[in-house]
Amino acid sequence: MTKFVGVLTSGGDNPGLNAAIRGLGKAALGCYGMQVIGFRDGFRGLMENRSITLDGKMLSGILTQGGTILGTSRDKPHKMIVGGKEMDMTQAIIDTYQRNHLDVLVCIGGGGTQKNAYRLMQHGLNVITLPKTIDNDVWGTDVTFGFDTALDIATEAIDRLHSTAQSHHRVIVVEIMGHRAGWLALGAGVAGGADVILIPEIPYDPKIVAESIRNRSRSGKSFSIVAVAEGALSKNQRSQMDELEEKLRAAKDKDEKRQVKKVIEEINGMRSSHTMMLAQKLEELTGIESRVTILGHLQRGGTPSSFDRILATKLGTACADYINRGKYGVMLAARGDGVEALPLEEVAGKLKSVPPDHLLLTSARRVGTCLGD
Ligand code: F6P
Repeated sequence: MTKFVGVLTSGGDNPGLNAAIRGLGKAALGCYGMQVIGFRDGFRGLMENRSITLDGKMLSGILTQGGTILGTSRDKPHKMIVGGKEMDMTQAIIDTYQRNHLDVLVCIGGGGTQKNAYRLMQHGLNVITLPKTIDNDVWGTDVTFGFDTALDIATEAIDRLHSTAQSHHRVIVVEIMGHRAGWLALGAGVAGGADVILIPEIPYDPKIVAESIRNRSRSGKSFSIVAVAEGALSKNQRSQMDELEEKLRAAKDKDEKRQVKKVIEEINGMRSSHTMMLAQKLEELTGIESRVTILGHLQRGGTPSSFDRILATKLGTACADYINRGKYGVMLAARGDGVEALPLEEVAGKLKSVPPDHLLLTSARRVGTCLGD
């Protein structure tokens, strides 16, 4: 019997999404005679039943394209803004699934998508997820596609910033994406030889950062590159956040919860101003002129690296095999050279952060990089 497959991309876009859609689509159509439809704009398009047929023509010529041909959004099935109000649209999504006689829904996304897909699975839908994000913070997979491309972009940026920082004898603070995990800032910082690397996992002390810059100056190096992950916090900011998170856990009613959440979201939304404030502080403390470069969405745009194309193709084609075998409720993780299926309930809600004893951190310290602690 022909199997009907639905696929969507959700969360921030990233390089390799089209390669994954193509891998899944071509293998599902060509090897197993399945029918594949794509839903537009993540869970919103699924809720609104906006779809396109993914036939040979649609799947052709997209391997090297950045972004996602399906479009994406950060909408969650159980908390969607509809008509200006936050609503639980899970039932509408189940209706779309049934109306299209789907055998399975493939959700390609990051940490949030794993949780949303798991919720749909608990409502009885067959789901399979493929992990992607430039942040590389999805638990259970060695690596997510998108990360390698973003790593190259951020590394090249640090390389380029070196010559201008050196010429002007400046401190350049470069903000790199990664709101909950520091893989990208750490990787690019090590690859690009940043003098300071600040990541969310290690709260930093601005005075220690300034001291390391002054030490460089004393040794005749009149410039410094500070690679800061957008979610990195100073020790003070971290303890303020810890207090708020404690308050959130202890909140007695929904109203109190909402208020504390709002403050947390406001602080999270101020990430770039944290970076600007850090640069100002470093200028004050070191007396060295400082500048800020925010790489932002540049890191997510454009053509995927060959590594990401290969990984996305492996995951997409493996996904068709799992569908053929009727193995659902799993995330397909990259493990070594292969692909492994992990139960979604094991993955959902977990974060892969940089462990304190990670070799990359040790290596950074050994080459004299300041980690702000
Ligand atoms: O989750 C991937 C990511 O690129 C993060 O690094 C970043 O914090 C976030 O998305 C930015 O999201 P948006 O595109 O919604 O501004």
